[in-house]
Amino acid sequence: MSNTATLEIGGNKYEFPIIEGSEGEKAIDIKTLRGATGGVITIDPGYKNTGSCESGITFLDGEKGILRYRGYSIEDLAEKADFLEVVYLLIFGELPTKEQHDKFHADIKDKAIVDEEVKKILDGFPKSAHPMGVLSSLTSALTAFNPSSVNVDSEEDLYRSIVKILGKFPVLVAWTMRKKQGLPLDYGDNSLGYVENILKMMFRKPNEEYTMNPILVNALDKLLILHADHEQNCSTSTVRIVGSSHAGLFASISAGISALWGPLHGGANQAVLEMLEAIREDGGDTKKYMAKAKDKSDPFRLMGFGHRVYKNFDPRAKIIKVAADEVLGDLGVEDPILDIAKGLEQEALKDEYFVQRKLYPNVDFYSGIIYRAMGIPTEMFTVMFALGRLPGWIAQWREMRQRKEPIGRPRQVYIGENYRNFVSLEKR
Ligand code: SDX
Repeated sequence: MSNTATLEIGGNKYEFPIIEGSEGEKAIDIKTLRGATGGVITIDPGYKNTGSCESGITFLDGEKGILRYRGYSIEDLAEKADFLEVVYLLIFGELPTKEQHDKFHADIKDKAIVDEEVKKILDGFPKSAHPMGVLSSLTSALTAFNPSSVNVDSEEDLYRSIVKILGKFPVLVAWTMRKKQGLPLDYGDNSLGYVENILKMMFRKPNEEYTMNPILVNALDKLLILHADHEQNCSTSTVRIVGSSHAGLFASISAGISALWGPLHGGANQAVLEMLEAIREDGGDTKKYMAKAKDKSDPFRLMGFGHRVYKNFDPRAKIIKVAADEVLGDLGVEDPILDIAKGLEQEALKDEYFVQRKLYPNVDFYSGIIYRAMGIPTEMFTVMFALGRLPGWIAQWREMRQRKEPIGRPRQVYIGENYRNFVSLEKR
């Protein structure tokens, strides 16, 4: 294959270099297109065919159902690593040694205290507020309490901001949930592991000691690893483009949380549970919902199905499906919703509409079933997705700033009115 692409416009030919990634992906580099052609641009709504950057963090192959973080397979990492190791790997590019892992955790714990004034902001929200809106606001508020902007040319300054957000974010997650539940807010216990402490902050009852359940620790650890990064998805692209204006790390992550909230993206895990509940209340009539999902006049979609990149099984969904059986079995939880989900999956995988469009279960299809078995409220499911995706957002933001990427500013094709003379109010 030639390493250039030729474009013919109006009888003129233009050549553009083809770049190739380390996994053989090819892209036409059109950096010079508009200048060379006197103003012609490309257009690609939703960026289905357009790369925004070169990145060395996550590789996924949608046709083969492959997902790797810094070259390590998601299957290996979910099975053999803990979440903090994966956080370190995504952000710094290598799996940490024991010493690096322990220092990283110690530095995170050292920065985990959140200014008490943040509780006053939290007090301002009604209990009915969606946790994703609260979390996005509190994350943005961290900027007010940590005003110094990040000097990305200083590894030390960047590291300090990274351990700050990794320390404070789980506290904000726990406080967001407990505020809705009318429970006191605390910091857990610094002697615990990163994920263990998240569980204690979220679930400790004020009048009894918290007993750590290794089943819950392992389940949450695995879920956070599976959600940790996913190359240039909607929320990560948001974090990158906000950060490309040199807005701070916390502000960029706050924007990413808002993007993740949408039901077509991270909000799907909540929407899946609501859909499965509706099917259960409807007597388990999966065929009715399959028909709705295929009916173009019906806005209903089979939530947790389909993916912009995966045209095969989402490898994360496979792992979560197995984990769902294990966790519910270990916890002794019987949840009819899991059976409905499996039935729906079986039907969709045989249905021409879904087969033809290569619609498979994605990461959101089964994750909510585990969160629910763990006692996490449905409205908190997308917050748990954000907790997992935080290291991916950090890693991608750091890469974008350190590679000194230009400010993101797409072009458009104008389809509005041509020039018109102004008509004064009296004459209109
Ligand atoms: C995440 O990008 C990432 O990496 C995201 C993510 C991550 O880790 O960051 O993986 C996390 O967001 C997973 C996706 C969670 N969302 C859902 O489960 C919501 C339901 N799924 C869809 O809305 C949809 O599949 C998307 C948004 C995920 C992908 O949409 P695309 O790529 O824009 O595809 P499309 O909307 O153009 O659909 C192609 C066809 C259409 O039909 P036709 O016009 O060809 O007739 O497939 C149909 C769609 O109507 N279709 C569905 C469907 N998903 C696509 N029909 C019914 N149910 C669905 N779920």
